[in-house]
Amino acid sequence: MANLLPSSHEVDMKFLSTTIIFSLSILLLLPNTSYSLHQNPKNRIKTATFLSESFEMGPGSIAAKTFLNIEFPEGHVGVKSFDAELVDEEGNSIPLYETYLHHWFAIKYIENITMSHDPKLRRTDDFAMERNEGMCNENILPHYWGFGVESRGTTSHIPDPFAIEQGNRINIPKGYKEKWLLNVMAIDTRGAQDKKGCTECRCDLMNLPKDFYNVTLDVHNQPLTTNYKGGIFCCQDNLQCKQRDGFQGSKRKVSLRYKISWVHWNKHQVPVKVYILDSTDRVRSNGSQIIHDCQAEYTIPTNGGDDSLHVQKANIPMKKGGYLIYGTTHMHSGVVNATLYRQNGETLCTSTPKYGTGDEPGNEKHYVVGMSVCYPQPGSIKVHDGEILTVESRYKNEFRTGVMGHFYIYLAEELPQQY
Ligand SMILES: *[C@@H]1O[C@H](CO)[C@@H](O)[C@H](O)[C@H]1NC(C)=O
Ligand SMILES: *[C@@H]1O[C@H](CO)[C@@H](O)[C@H](O)[C@H]1NC(C)=O
Ligand SMILES: *[C@@H]1O[C@H](CO)[C@@H](O)[C@H](O)[C@H]1NC(C)=O
Ligand SMILES: *[C@@H]1O[C@H](CO)[C@@H](O)[C@H](O)[C@H]1NC(C)=O
Ligand SMILES: *[C@@H]1O[C@H](CO)[C@@H](O)[C@H](O)[C@H]1NC(C)=O
Repeated sequence: MANLLPSSHEVDMKFLSTTIIFSLSILLLLPNTSYSLHQNPKNRIKTATFLSESFEMGPGSIAAKTFLNIEFPEGHVGVKSFDAELVDEEGNSIPLYETYLHHWFAIKYIENITMSHDPKLRRTDDFAMERNEGMCNENILPHYWGFGVESRGTTSHIPDPFAIEQGNRINIPKGYKEKWLLNVMAIDTRGAQDKKGCTECRCDLMNLPKDFYNVTLDVHNQPLTTNYKGGIFCCQDNLQCKQRDGFQGSKRKVSLRYKISWVHWNKHQVPVKVYILDSTDRVRSNGSQIIHDCQAEYTIPTNGGDDSLHVQKANIPMKKGGYLIYGTTHMHSGVVNATLYRQNGETLCTSTPKYGTGDEPGNEKHYVVGMSVCYPQPGSIKVHDGEILTVESRYKNEFRTGVMGHFYIYLAEELPQQY
């Protein structure tokens, strides 16, 4: 995760081959009609569905891919939602018990418009990641949108008149163009000896290279130790999770299908800022500055006691506050819920999982198929500048590797005048 942005040598723009655009102009029905007053009737919400490049997956295979220069709405826009799922070549939704969607992240970057055509002559300055507002350090959790297994059932929709502003030319350095990349990790668990272990990226289930622990660097750029039992570093591209003997299954091409809805930016839109708070953030101070140290994932140790719950907690100072417009989480199987508290102890948002009960994609039994979303009445909750928020992610207390507790919040620094 620390090195999501590919080196300039790897940059080879492959424009996406297949694009399906539905130019529907739908005005979403909103729960509270008073907001529709802010929606200029001529500035309709547009929706388009795109398909990432495809990648091949067979039983037990791991795919960890980065696709550069993905299709994204052109121009100065306000994004209202961004949803994604895995599909096969025919465009059918793939169920999670066949291919587990560990995560997809949509990350913004800028690219030098006049950089050399020869990848060998490109400079590191030709690319730069443009991360969200925080609060993690450096390249950790830099994305604007991203979920995993819970993707199909977690709404990313932002109520009017709020939107995530993108493509504003005054924010793009001269000589650069704003682009988007997708980082996708998927695990084909067909035929796996231990499906659950594979989805948790257990190292001892993978055909790791011999020198794995000597050459693989963790989030702090230190070699992994053999104490690392599982997580994103053991789910490397093209690795294979242990299979049952004699299992037969075919290879197939898989893509991430993503659907974006947006409006052209105008004075009727109110921007929200995107923050991802990590329950593993080991916040400290070096005397003059607050240092964030997000681990992005963690392990729940084998339960020695009889506590039924494992709680991971971080206290995160917000440099800048704002009105809370949206809140949800990215968590893994075993999640009980996650809560964001304000400094005085009040609950700002609790996100709870929905576990599937059937076979069909979107409702797969035992899988987390959605996380609930908080939509406070806009204007009703203001996070103050400098306020310390607490994130608590709660899982069932049983051995699990690579679990996550990422709290996504959207804050509006201003409200429309009516409020
Ligand atoms: C809609 O929003 C207005 C203005 O904030 C509020 O007074 C009203 O109670 C809301 N109505 C509903 C049905 O939530
Ligand atoms: C972009 O790359 C070209 C070719 O290397 C270089 O001359 C130019 O200065 C770069 N532009 C910026 C803004 O760095
Ligand atoms: C990997 O690290 C171990 C422990 O430090 C060491 O014994 C071993 O020789 C190293 N292997 C390689 C290939 O560097
Ligand atoms: C604290 O960290 C910041 C950012 O890394 C650095 O600029 C500053 O010099 C550090 N201050 C101290 C007292 O170490
Ligand atoms: C979250 O989980 C804890 C532990 O089970 C429980 O006490 C609490 O009521 C839950 N919160 C919500 C809002 O569901």
